[in-house]
Amino acid sequence: MGMTSKLMVGNWKMHGSLAANASLLPDILSGMGGVTCRAAVCVSAVYLAQAQSLLTGSALAWGAQDVSAHESGAYTGEVSAAMLHDFAVRYAIVGHSERRQYHGETDAVVASKAQRALAAGITPIVCVGESQAEREAGQTESVVKRQLAAVIHANGHCISEIVVAYEPVWAIGTGLTASPEQAQAVHAVLRAQLQAATAHADRVSILYGGSMNADNAASLLAQPDVDGGLIGGASLKAPDFLSMLKAASR
Ligand code: PGA
Repeated sequence: MGMTSKLMVGNWKMHGSLAANASLLPDILSGMGGVTCRAAVCVSAVYLAQAQSLLTGSALAWGAQDVSAHESGAYTGEVSAAMLHDFAVRYAIVGHSERRQYHGETDAVVASKAQRALAAGITPIVCVGESQAEREAGQTESVVKRQLAAVIHANGHCISEIVVAYEPVWAIGTGLTASPEQAQAVHAVLRAQLQAATAHADRVSILYGGSMNADNAASLLAQPDVDGGLIGGASLKAPDFLSMLKAASR
């Protein structure tokens, strides 16, 4: 069981605009009275300056959705961890299944990204999760363990500084959610794997992601090893996101 307060992170993906963000972020902030969980939004890199200016000093942190595996150099289009640090980001998602699927990110690349983030003082949110076919083939445990093992191997004793997000690929953006029992079963496997690597595994927040919404958040968050959520679609609507932050604050 994780020992810290719950952590709820919005993953805006490739959504937002200067105008939309300028109303969504204040709408979220204005409803955060009574929210005691940790909360963040991961926005497109081009909106980090805007997020920083609107959120500095508030209870809502901001983060990036990716970070380069390289430190600096001739990598056109990439954003380094040091650049993210310039905008005071607290979190960077790494290894989201959309990056693994559409941009060919391997376990080794994801592990390097986590390393770059940690070295810059940014908490990587390391995403793991099986596809529908892998679940049906009984490979769920072996897939998520392989994905996390690469990050543990590359990051040694710093591993207690990461956040893990279990996101079954079949649940992302589909409206299909893992049941609380299915989520807990995988979270327990990940917790045990972290325990074998660090004495501080209880400090690692293990988030659930995949069609989490205002209706199912409370039952998922009630599981002993579900320490929060990584929320896509439902994080783009202030009332929905706020109701999930409140569910995580109980
Ligand atoms: P979803 O996305 O909540 O829209 O399913 C979650 C994610 O991909 O992080």
